[in-house]
Amino acid sequence: KDTLTIAIDGPAAAGKSTVAKMVAKELACIYIDTGAMYRALTLQAMNHSVDVNDEEALTALLLKTTIELKQTIEGQKVFIDNQDVTGAIRSLEVTNTVSYVAKHPKIRSEMVNRQQALAAKRDVVMDGRDIGTHVLPDAEVKIFLVATVEERAKRRHEENIKNGIASDLAELKKEIEQRDQIDSKREASPLVKAEDALEIDTTSLTINEVAQQILEQAKKIK
Ligand code: C5P
Repeated sequence: KDTLTIAIDGPAAAGKSTVAKMVAKELACIYIDTGAMYRALTLQAMNHSVDVNDEEALTALLLKTTIELKQTIEGQKVFIDNQDVTGAIRSLEVTNTVSYVAKHPKIRSEMVNRQQALAAKRDVVMDGRDIGTHVLPDAEVKIFLVATVEERAKRRHEENIKNGIASDLAELKKEIEQRDQIDSKREASPLVKAEDALEIDTTSLTINEVAQQILEQAKKIK
């Protein structure tokens, strides 16, 4: 095996994507945001009035939906059947519904197949909930990022304010807790640290410090 794969998992709003992007840039790898794929399917279900609790209908919808993650000069963009949904998949409604979509074993197995195909024969940094445990169990570097829910809600809140998005800290904390609860308690590949993953508590670390720690792990490999 001559490729480098880095798996980054952890609960909602732990800073996974920010750190993963930095690490990918530094190592000239592709960054794959698996959460964006579940979000894209959620948006597609909402737009096609498919009940997110109906695993069969959702699976049929997924099988006829192309989800693409494209690197552009403006950053990574997400497309559903060639339509740019980069902004739309971050809506509050998608965020608060996605964990119901991600519970279904048939949805997960199709997503995992697609994610493994994206990672085949390439250097990748992939983030999600089950990357180290299911998607890339042989990843050379496995990271599990955690932070207190207060800190995660605070970071999201500050990010919203910076982006001019209305934000309620207490509400955010509730939503994050709710999503973690569903993601951790589901039967199909729940959010859990892989046995061989390095856990990093980012509560009192900067993004840069976290990225450095991951890069150090990667250096030990190459
Ligand atoms: O990473 P992000 O917060 O965008 O993920 C959105 C949701 O997608 C998660 O809360 C989880 O329900 C689901 N997800 C998952 N497995 C992954 C990535 C995301 O179940 N590998």
